[in-house]
Formats: sequence, C-alpha cells, structure tokens
Amino acid sequence: MKNYAEVAPQKNIFLPMEAKIIKVKQATETERHFTLQLADKGKMKFDPGQILEVSLLGFGEIPIGFASSPTRENTFDIVVRTVGRVSKALNNLKEGDSLHVRGPLGHGFDLTQLRNNNILIVAGGIGLCPTRSLIQYIMDRRSEFKHFTLFYGARNPSQQMFHDELTAWRKAKKEEIEFHEIVDKSDPSWQGNVGVITELFKNTAITPDTKVIICGPPIMFRFVIAQLSKIGVPHQNIFVDLERRMKCGVGKCGHCQINDKYACVDGPVFCYADIKDMEEAL
Ligand code: FES
Repeated sequence: MKNYAEVAPQKNIFLPMEAKIIKVKQATETERHFTLQLADKGKMKFDPGQILEVSLLGFGEIPIGFASSPTRENTFDIVVRTVGRVSKALNNLKEGDSLHVRGPLGHGFDLTQLRNNNILIVAGGIGLCPTRSLIQYIMDRRSEFKHFTLFYGARNPSQQMFHDELTAWRKAKKEEIEFHEIVDKSDPSWQGNVGVITELFKNTAITPDTKVIICGPPIMFRFVIAQLSKIGVPHQNIFVDLERRMKCGVGKCGHCQINDKYACVDGPVFCYADIKDMEEAL
C-alpha cells in the first residue's frame, strides 16, 4: 500500500475545507450536479479520476469522484446521487450554501500513459461523472491525444446527464470526439440505439493499441472487457475506475480493500492487468 501522503500532496487530508455551492442543477431524478469553489477561493489541484470526501456537519461524509477537469476554471464539479442520509442532505443544499471537502485523494488516470494514444472511454450510468473529468481534460488538450471515442450507456433517456455536453458531442466532428450512445430501454422521445453498451462496438473500428477506460456498474466491466479481448486490446491497455467501494478514502477503514490493495489509495483507477486475478476486484 502506498503512503497516502505521496498521492494526496495537500496540506492535511484529515482537515475538511469549506466549499461554496456556486451552481446546482438537477441532473436526473436522483442526481444533482454541483459546481463548487473553495471558500478561500484557492484552486483545487487534482487529476482526473481522483476522489474527494464530501461532508455536511451533523450528517457525515461520503466519497465522490471529481466530475470536472482541472483544466476548467477555478471551480470543480461533483454529482451526488441520493442513496442515503448524507447524500440526501447534500442534495437538499442550494446555491450559496456551504459544505466541506477533503482531498484530492487516491490515484486518478495515468495521463502519461494515455497521452499520444487512441483513447476509448466506456461510461455506463453514473460512471459518466468521474470520466467527464477526463473527457473535459482530453477535449481541452486535444492535440495531446489521438483518436478519441466515447461510449455512453444509460438505463433510459431520462437517466442521461450533462445534456449540454451530450448535444455538443453529438454535433462534434469525429476528429474531435467520436461519440456513441445507447439506452437499455427506450421511450417515445428516443430515436437512438437501444441495447447493452457493447452493441456500440459494432459501429466503431477500435484498434488493439487503443487505451481504454471503463467506468460504470460492475456487470458492465466483464462484458466490455470480453469485447476488448476479441479486438485484441491487451489487458495493460485497459483502465478501470473502482471508486464505488469507498468510505474513509484514506486507507483506514478497510472498506475498499481488494486483496492487498486499497481502492482509495492505490486506486480508484487501476490497470486491469494488475487486478484481473484478484477475486473481489470486479
Ligand atoms: S475507503 Fe479505502 S480504506 Fe477506507
């Protein structure tokens, strides 16, 4: 296990910092999208894929991935899904209110490995939130990456998030971003693909040298990786984001333990080749 101090080089990771809610939007029926700024107006320095512990006095603390890129403004985004007491309280906050954050924590995407390569991001459901951080990063530094393909799967059209960006990605030239989307279940408003996310491989020509990032519900990983194996993408080119397992975020509670690794300190982003033989990884 790495020393958390090596991966989270901020002042004191146990000390929450106050952050103000600059903007809040209802992202879906159960998710709210917050734009935050540190109360001291300092810049939050982080890598795409890292996480934050977000807390509200009297309620508790939950780990959440950054949903925006460090290349954007002096603010940062998170998306909170209402699943328990803390997330419910956070999702009752409004613009101008404060909450507290600790971080950044953990290891994000290895940008050195990703640069100068073809990239495929496979995001399922709320997995689009942490990967949005990397998507924005790639779009802001487009010349540093080769062909960029994004697959996005949602349960149904009403579960889709970030509508402005979806519209922009749909309209974008393929040289900028090759965007493919699918929903499990259609509704009358939907005219796009319907089915499982692996259907999208039929529409693309992913090459074996592509670096692939996968984030989404656990069931999705197995099917996507099987598809990548058919194409011949080696396991060391596949990166998985396992942030769903966390609690304390600093290697103390053991909640996120995967064999001898801690998702919060060694991850949440792992190279698939490093964890594929671990029983509890996926
Ligand atoms: S969340 Fe990783 S040890 Fe607590």
